[in-house]
Amino acid sequence: MQFSKGFIRQVVEATNLVDLISEHGITLKRAGTNYKGLCPFHAEKTPSFNVNPLRGFFHCFGCSTSGDAIKFLTQYDRLSFMEAVEELAKRASIPLEIVAGSSRPTNPDEDRGLRCLREAASFYRENLAVDEGASAKEYLRERMVPENMQEHFQLGGSPDEWQGAMNRLQQKKIAVPDLLSTGLIKVSEKSGRHYDTFRGRLMFPIRDTRGRCIGFGARSMKPEDKPKYLNSPETSYYQKSQVLYGLFEGLSSIRKLRRLIFVEGYLDVIRLHENGFEDAVAPCGTALTQDHLKIVRRYADTVILLFDGDTAGKNAALKHANLLLPHALESFIVTLPEGDDPDTFLLKHGKARFEELLEQKVPALDYLVQQTIKKYPDSIQGRMQGLEELLPALNEINDPKRRQLSLLAIGERMKIPAEILARELKRKTNKYLSNKDNNATLQRLPTSSKVSQDEQWLLQSLLRKGKLWPLVREHLDPQEFQTPQFHQLYAKLLQLPDAAFQAFDPLKLELSDPELFQSVMLLLTEEIPSHDFGLSLRRIKERNLDNNFQQWLLNSTSNEDRAQAGLKRRKEEEKLKNIKQIFDNILTL
Ligand code: UTP
Ligand code: MN
Repeated sequence: MQFSKGFIRQVVEATNLVDLISEHGITLKRAGTNYKGLCPFHAEKTPSFNVNPLRGFFHCFGCSTSGDAIKFLTQYDRLSFMEAVEELAKRASIPLEIVAGSSRPTNPDEDRGLRCLREAASFYRENLAVDEGASAKEYLRERMVPENMQEHFQLGGSPDEWQGAMNRLQQKKIAVPDLLSTGLIKVSEKSGRHYDTFRGRLMFPIRDTRGRCIGFGARSMKPEDKPKYLNSPETSYYQKSQVLYGLFEGLSSIRKLRRLIFVEGYLDVIRLHENGFEDAVAPCGTALTQDHLKIVRRYADTVILLFDGDTAGKNAALKHANLLLPHALESFIVTLPEGDDPDTFLLKHGKARFEELLEQKVPALDYLVQQTIKKYPDSIQGRMQGLEELLPALNEINDPKRRQLSLLAIGERMKIPAEILARELKRKTNKYLSNKDNNATLQRLPTSSKVSQDEQWLLQSLLRKGKLWPLVREHLDPQEFQTPQFHQLYAKLLQLPDAAFQAFDPLKLELSDPELFQSVMLLLTEEIPSHDFGLSLRRIKERNLDNNFQQWLLNSTSNEDRAQAGLKRRKEEEKLKNIKQIFDNILTL
């Protein structure tokens, strides 16, 4: 034993277990003298993981894992006992105890899988220097990966044989079960024999933040070898949603900058590091997920995402901007010229041009709004559709203040008043924003009665379906609205110049007629049921005709008058039938 019992006790006692566990990304909440959280050792939805900071002890009532700070590190980080003690001493700034005569032994209790992966990485690496690895060496030369980067990323080559790595690692006393559990070999379904997972490929060791190899990315070197990239299967060591390639290699820069540049591929990461952008990382063989972002938040406050300029790249950028929005991260999008990835761009244009490109980064929120607006026509209808698309991402923001700020920012960029946006958001989610959206400056829609409902629907579809304008203008008088606000609104709309009808955009009203603008926006943001425009119109007209008829009857003094009224009514009814038909036709066009 390298450390005395006294030293170990001293180190454990100097550790605040709650801090240690929290630093590992586990959220703990105070519950009396204890702290509680979701157990990191088994999947659960309600917290049964308890930490007692006074006794320096954790226990999970769900899976019964328990222990002290050392146990936590050996379980969670797979450290050996010695490493865990060293780690805790380092955290507590306690100098390591030197026991006379003990040179540093190779970890007798190192995790077997980790040892296997470590040996594999050095085998692949050494393989580069011998004849067997010549093709990988040559491939690296062609791809212009310099020696220092090959060393920094510990690149290697796997032999082009079915059991090359397996045999060599067995010679190093690595057992078959460990080769299997780390995904380095597989069992053939046909013959039941073991074979190497990675054959004749350029090997990229994937390392955790302590620098320990946990898996591999492997690139084929011949076009006929598919897939182009093969990654370690998911194992208890390698979970692809939990690792970022380049994070360990750039850790010291990243800690200083608290920034990450996201790229897509292994070689992009290496090329960026080579050019001094040591904060470049990539997800391994998967898209960026929420799980990745949890890790990101531990290391960075700013993230920059680089994407290809082609359609696929743009779509990916949009998807990622949505993913990033809910997080308390400063996120930016950078678009590369079409056809280039960061690797080829740097090779072609060099570092200075790349720096210029980075300077053109667009905040993710702006990007999201810009691209979303672009997808729809530049009209209010289009903007409302765009807004619909943005709301889900906004809803994901849990912090009310941040949600409010983002909302304001979106409103500003879309030129829609925040109250209206807030209203939309609330309608969608029932999550109340801190800003009261029903304050006095905002007009309210008349509470719906049967009468006003049809009138409201009519106006709403009118505002959304520009092509209805000319016809409606011809067939509907303001007096036909019974609800005073709607009457007023419609009368005002009729005063707009003809051209404005066709490309109706209420945003243009904002300055010229703020009141009208507000009412229109209210109508546009209110939920609109799918309904029959013609039917609403006919019901309004029928209702009015009915009222008129009653009036005519009251006014009539003779039988002849009454007969006239009846005749008039029948005529009007005929017209109504036609009107409904006219509108039905135009809407199905
Ligand atoms: P790309 O196909 O864009 O390749 O894959 P690349 O990174 O530019 O690689 P080079 O320059 O041709 O060598 C981007 C990333 O997607 C994953 C890998 O992580 C890769 O780096 N990928 C790609 C796979 O996991 N499997 C594949 O077959 C292809
Ligand atoms: Mn590439």
